[in-house]
Amino acid sequence: MAKDGDKMSEKETVLHQLPKGGGSDCYTPENIVAGLKTEKIGRTVFCYDIVDSTNEEAKRQALKGAPSGSLFLAEQQTCGKGRLGRSWVSPPGTGMWFSVLLRPEVLPRNIAATTLLAGTAVCGAVREVTGCDVKIKWPNDIVAGTRKISGILTEMNVTKGCAEFAVVGIGVNVNSTAFPEELRDKATSIFLETGRPVRRIALLQEILRRLELLLKENACGLGASFLEQYKADCVSLGRQVGFRHGGVLMTGTAVDISPEGELIVRLPDGSLQTVLSGEVNIQGFYGSSMTP
Ligand code: BTN
Repeated sequence: MAKDGDKMSEKETVLHQLPKGGGSDCYTPENIVAGLKTEKIGRTVFCYDIVDSTNEEAKRQALKGAPSGSLFLAEQQTCGKGRLGRSWVSPPGTGMWFSVLLRPEVLPRNIAATTLLAGTAVCGAVREVTGCDVKIKWPNDIVAGTRKISGILTEMNVTKGCAEFAVVGIGVNVNSTAFPEELRDKATSIFLETGRPVRRIALLQEILRRLELLLKENACGLGASFLEQYKADCVSLGRQVGFRHGGVLMTGTAVDISPEGELIVRLPDGSLQTVLSGEVNIQGFYGSSMTP
């Protein structure tokens, strides 16, 4: 009981200290659209207090005809989904849990490209809006130091070999003041890193603006200037990494990103291995060794 009480007063302090200006930080379509600098993304908004997963809800609504760019936000997710079948802890109030529906007219050909673009949008927006010094851990974890601030789950619906739509689900630990014991080495929040509470809607709007721009600029494949920016932001490059390939554990040095967005790793025998997807661990990140 005492612990719960303490947590609540910490949380209230954060919310009361939100920077002035910019109106309410409540998720309503009106608040989100006011001042939004996009053409399509976030122009149709679905807000929920509680939902199983905004990705699941986006897929359900996509099948009912929701337009490209629709945004699905929830204060709380009961079954938040992470990559590789993991769950994503999504308590109410302090984080941002949302998904964007993209239909083929704005969709890069491969899912890896979409995912890198989304990671770059989040990284740039977090830096610009909050001043938090974040980087990208390939493919699209956003990290502060060795802990994760944001994760992205991109899911594509493919019919007869063609992408019908994709859902880009983004989770950001914004004003969280604490994490469950098992996540303490792995996760952090913008508030914990900077000591300053953040207006979620300002951050959300900047993520959406950047995502739309990057999708437009890279519609025919990842461009040279995007790849240059991504590589500059990517904390994995130049580090010792561990990953599984065909069930075999491999280690090497991450040396480059391919034009398709894959990670290129130099193995101890000097050969290069391309990693398309899956978990790539970095020694010392998320409190782990290099074993995925
Ligand atoms: C990861 O494992 O890093 C990806 C986490 C993605 C979490 C977000 S929260 C909003 C959206 N809805 C979900 O169920 N998952 C994504």
